[in-house]
Amino acid sequence: MGKKLIRGARVIDPACGRDEPCELLLEGGLIAAVGHDLPAEGAQTINAAGLVAAPGLVDMHTHMREPGFEDKETIATGTAAAARGGVTSILAMANTCPVIDRPERVADFYNRAMRSAKVRAYTVGAVSLGMQGKEITDVEDLLSAGAAALSDDGVPLMNAEIMREALIRMKPSGLPILSHSEDGDLVRAGVMNEGALSRKLGYKGRPAVAEELLLVRDGMLAADVGGYVHVCHVSTKGSVDYIRRMKAAGIHVTAETCPQYFTLTEEEIEKQGAMAKVNPPLRTRADVEAILEGLEDGTLDCIITDHAPHTAEEKARELPKAPSGMVGLETSLALSLTVLHHQLGWPLMKVLRAMSTAPAGILQLDAGSLRVGAPADIVLFDPEETWTVRPEAFASKGRNTPFAGWELKGRVRCTVVGGETVYDAEAAR
Ligand code: DOR
Ligand code: ZN
Repeated sequence: MGKKLIRGARVIDPACGRDEPCELLLEGGLIAAVGHDLPAEGAQTINAAGLVAAPGLVDMHTHMREPGFEDKETIATGTAAAARGGVTSILAMANTCPVIDRPERVADFYNRAMRSAKVRAYTVGAVSLGMQGKEITDVEDLLSAGAAALSDDGVPLMNAEIMREALIRMKPSGLPILSHSEDGDLVRAGVMNEGALSRKLGYKGRPAVAEELLLVRDGMLAADVGGYVHVCHVSTKGSVDYIRRMKAAGIHVTAETCPQYFTLTEEEIEKQGAMAKVNPPLRTRADVEAILEGLEDGTLDCIITDHAPHTAEEKARELPKAPSGMVGLETSLALSLTVLHHQLGWPLMKVLRAMSTAPAGILQLDAGSLRVGAPADIVLFDPEETWTVRPEAFASKGRNTPFAGWELKGRVRCTVVGGETVYDAEAAR
């Protein structure tokens, strides 16, 4: 494992509040020293002048599609996309084929990841067998096999009894159930946000209350049993309000949102059709404002992508027949920097915390920190460089982004996992 010295960077570590120019010495896959005039003998020097060095991002909500949907993505291509996006740890959802609902399938995921993953790859286990919402999985065995959390993400878990039991059985681990909060009956066949625009366009909608209903239910269940629920991809103002109130009431709830929910509104459906179709759907300007407020005041703990690759053929279908989801791994940092840091003036530290330290904490991963002894998982980025989103240049197989052509400010230059460079913008040119 090569020794590396990262020189000249502005080092930002949300885990300890450090924000200063200094050096990072990487050795044996770990951070060996942080400071000034560190010994450079035998070390490969990385000149990071003008760049920010931060803990590699932790994306706790991605879809890697392997096994079963390798035409959309594989662990190899999905984690290559992560590396390009500065993401050093990903959590893959269980809605593969077969569903990751048994310990052998968790083990199979890790075997595949060992062979092909370019960044640290973790999997969730399903909460219900086959994600059918009828029978609970073997929670303890899934965790023992290495599931990093449990979730039926992709479909709403409507069975409150299963959710309640899963929350109880997760308690010894301290890990959350990740809840795709949308009431399945209320969103059935809905293709976009329900409201004036869906009525105008003549599409069946997915009402905001569907999301709010399920997350309040899950919060109540967590309160009842002393469990921990993490709300996936929050998209509505009401959700932010309810989560804020649940947190104030002492309920163990955390929550995430995605760049698409603080940058885009339902109007994208009119402009971009299926490219803007996602579950939960893009909402209104008032929702976008509330999501930003929720991130600002910490009601929403982290920013994840919900990276959901689909093929060009699938996304070319008419809206009701096209699958939901958008890729995000290669644009999330730049979108977050552009909007939150450059446009809204948030400190870089705050943005980076929501993308690394916070999700690492939720999943109890040894990540999201640059302390001595931590894994040497690092992103180097130029906060000022502008670039244009070109989906055809993505490492992901999925080109389904609604951000094609956007000019963004902030670009990943280098990603390091366990002391090894897994992405280098110079080499990739
Ligand atoms: O839009 C979505 N796509 N939302 C989900 O919850 C699942 C995801 C997928 O798997 O494509
Ligand atoms: Zn989901």
